Amino acid sequence: MASPLNCRMTFTKFLEHFLLLYLLLLCPKITADDGQNGFHGEERDALLALVAGFSNSFLHHNWTKVMCYENDPPYWFGIECLNGRVSGVRLENLGLTGEIKVDSLLNLTELSILSFKDNSISGPLMDFSNNQKLIYIDLSGNRFDGAIPLSLLKLNSLASLHLQANNLSGSIPSFDQTSLLEFNVSYNNLSGPIPNTKVLQSFNRFSYFGNPNLCGPPSSSDCNSKNDTSDTNKSKSSKSSKLLPILLVVNVVALIILLFLCIIFFKKYKNLKKRLEEKHILVRDEEKDEKIKMETGGNRVAADEVEKGKLVFASEDRKFELDDLLKASAEGLGKGNFGNCYKAMLERGPIVVKRLKDLKPLSGEEFMKQVRMIADQKHPNLLSLLAYYYSKDEKLLLYKFASNGNVYNRLNEGKGKPTRIPFRWSSRLSVARGVARALEYLHLNTKSTNVVPHGNLKLSNVLIDENDGVLVTDYGLTSLVAAPLAAQRMIAFKSPEYQSHKKVSRKSDVWSYGCLLLELVTGRVSADSAPPGTNAVDLCSWVHRAVREEWTAEIFDVEIAVQRSANHGMLKLLQIAMRCCVSSPENRPEMSEVAREVENIVVTADSEDEEEFSSMDRSLTDESMSTPSRSTTTLDDRR
Ligand SMILES: *[C@@H]1O[C@H](CO)[C@@H](O)[C@H](O)[C@H]1NC(C)=O
Ligand SMILES: *[C@@H]1O[C@H](CO)[C@@H](O)[C@H](O)[C@H]1NC(C)=O
Ligand SMILES: *[C@@H]1O[C@H](CO)[C@@H](O)[C@H](O)[C@H]1NC(C)=O
Ligand SMILES: *[C@@H]1O[C@H](CO)[C@@H](O)[C@H](O)[C@H]1NC(C)=O
Ligand SMILES: *[C@@H]1O[C@H](CO)[C@@H](O)[C@H](O)[C@H]1NC(C)=O
Ligand SMILES: *[C@@H]1O[C@H](CO)[C@@H](O)[C@H](O)[C@H]1NC(C)=O
Ligand SMILES: *[C@@H]1O[C@H](CO)[C@@H](O)[C@H](O)[C@H]1NC(C)=O
Repeated sequence: MASPLNCRMTFTKFLEHFLLLYLLLLCPKITADDGQNGFHGEERDALLALVAGFSNSFLHHNWTKVMCYENDPPYWFGIECLNGRVSGVRLENLGLTGEIKVDSLLNLTELSILSFKDNSISGPLMDFSNNQKLIYIDLSGNRFDGAIPLSLLKLNSLASLHLQANNLSGSIPSFDQTSLLEFNVSYNNLSGPIPNTKVLQSFNRFSYFGNPNLCGPPSSSDCNSKNDTSDTNKSKSSKSSKLLPILLVVNVVALIILLFLCIIFFKKYKNLKKRLEEKHILVRDEEKDEKIKMETGGNRVAADEVEKGKLVFASEDRKFELDDLLKASAEGLGKGNFGNCYKAMLERGPIVVKRLKDLKPLSGEEFMKQVRMIADQKHPNLLSLLAYYYSKDEKLLLYKFASNGNVYNRLNEGKGKPTRIPFRWSSRLSVARGVARALEYLHLNTKSTNVVPHGNLKLSNVLIDENDGVLVTDYGLTSLVAAPLAAQRMIAFKSPEYQSHKKVSRKSDVWSYGCLLLELVTGRVSADSAPPGTNAVDLCSWVHRAVREEWTAEIFDVEIAVQRSANHGMLKLLQIAMRCCVSSPENRPEMSEVAREVENIVVTADSEDEEEFSSMDRSLTDESMSTPSRSTTTLDDRR
């Protein structure tokens, strides 16, 4: 009787291991480490090819085994590593002879330091076109010959270039990167005039010394000493030097006129603002944040709705009037990142009022434009904006009310308590789907490519309505909120690219979505979205470690892990999540691709019989996958 079951278990186990292997292959992108696993094997190969050209027995014996691993000190002499990538090659005064292949640095894309100082290396210099991160290059004291490669001109971080005491010939290329602080080409065989770039002219003659055929400033020899055309050039330059004072005067006059215009404009603007302010309906919060009570003062008859502080509806059908809202009783729903939320009880049902604070200093028109963009987003999985309100003192967004709360609470509330109703796999999958659809829609409907369409995606911004529909909220606020506050509070700004490059993009939403999925499948709270005071982990690296060390069985939330027939789908979702959480934005998939993949995960029924059966079955046949912590979780514990 057990044998067909056995067979099924072995098959699922096989499947899991197969997927695990697949995950392991995807994983290195998450932290870009694992030099030792050969994921950056091309760097290792490039270095081995380099050392093969030198016939140096010390390096031959030393450069074996692991090159560099994560942030451990490197194992190879002369190599520096950063996050498992080669960042420095420093082989100085080792008596190295032979040539270096021109293409030997092409695969060392993270290289920032390169020194072969004081050896006897010959041949032409290398191609630096893939080494955009190079800061320091010292090739001095060798026998390099040929021309200075033009690829050096494209290195925009290069601060130091030492090529002195070689046998380089040809002319000096026109270096003009402002990053360049040290430059030395003394004692070569360079020729021709020193290019007249600001950077090259900023070094003194000791940087150019010992090249008999080099001429022009800052070197001491004159290029045109024997040529009469120099006279014409000189007269030209003296002409332009006469023009200089005239140009200066013109500039100063232009500047003064500009200043005047600025002052006039500013005064006019202030007047206008004052006049508008006088007309505003004042809306003030008189009670202590618990009830909204608005007072109207002044005249309300108006043509321009926004400037007068009036309610603007997102769609044609007006469900209520400003007066209804003012009369309604309100109940605090909680403090959001960008303002408090209230539930206002209107006659026709409750609505949510979000009072925005810490906004960018937007004019009424700008505010209206931005909010219209939010209002134009209409999708079954987006909580739709009903209306908005703008006045000088008060900016409100009014939304539909979702009666079943947010997914963060659904996932985390009452864990381990007997009253908890398990949050089943099928419900979690439907959350994953709804959010993916909403996000795909936002991504397709946001025209500008360098904004984050959602910007603040986390489980507490995913709501469940009375029909268990999944509704994403809080979208599109990046354009309204003051930038420094957005950086502190919005989830997109916690993404790896913001940490390292201070840049967010639509791919930051994909990252947020990946984190959200990880929370859904693991039942853990990610440090990036955790409310203060909760027990959170850096979920991405936690999962990464778990997969690498093969305690995969423990990744999934016990509440869903027992649903054995769905484990395949869970692994799939985990795999999608990990691809979204990859640290470099370019390697993350597009949202539409993600949505399609999530859509393709087969829903399995939440059958309880099957659970009981398979957990019993597992304890008999599948020791390796069941861990002590899991086998103690029985259905009875959870009820
Ligand atoms: C760089 O790496 C790629 C992939 O491993 C390899 O095919 C190529 O030959 C390498 N190029 C050089 C110049 O070493
Ligand atoms: C290579 O040399 C470095 C420094 O001398 C040393 O720390 C390292 O252990 C050596 N590695 C091998 C494989 O001999
Ligand atoms: C320098 O290069 C020239 C060819 O450009 C060659 O004739 C000469 O021998 C080289 N000198 C040294 C010291 O390598
Ligand atoms: C310097 O370069 C010139 C060609 O530009 C060559 O004729 C000469 O031999 C070189 N001198 C040395 C010392 O390498
Ligand atoms: C450039 O290198 C030469 C030879 O090493 C040295 O004499 C000279 O002082 C250096 N120039 C500068 C500006 O450091
Ligand atoms: C002087 O200028 C002429 C053209 O005006 C040019 O042909 C010649 O090579 C120059 N001579 C020198 C020594 O630069
Ligand atoms: C004179 O200046 C022109 C351009 O301003 C330049 O092309 C030419 O080479 C210069 N002649 C000499 C002899 O420097």
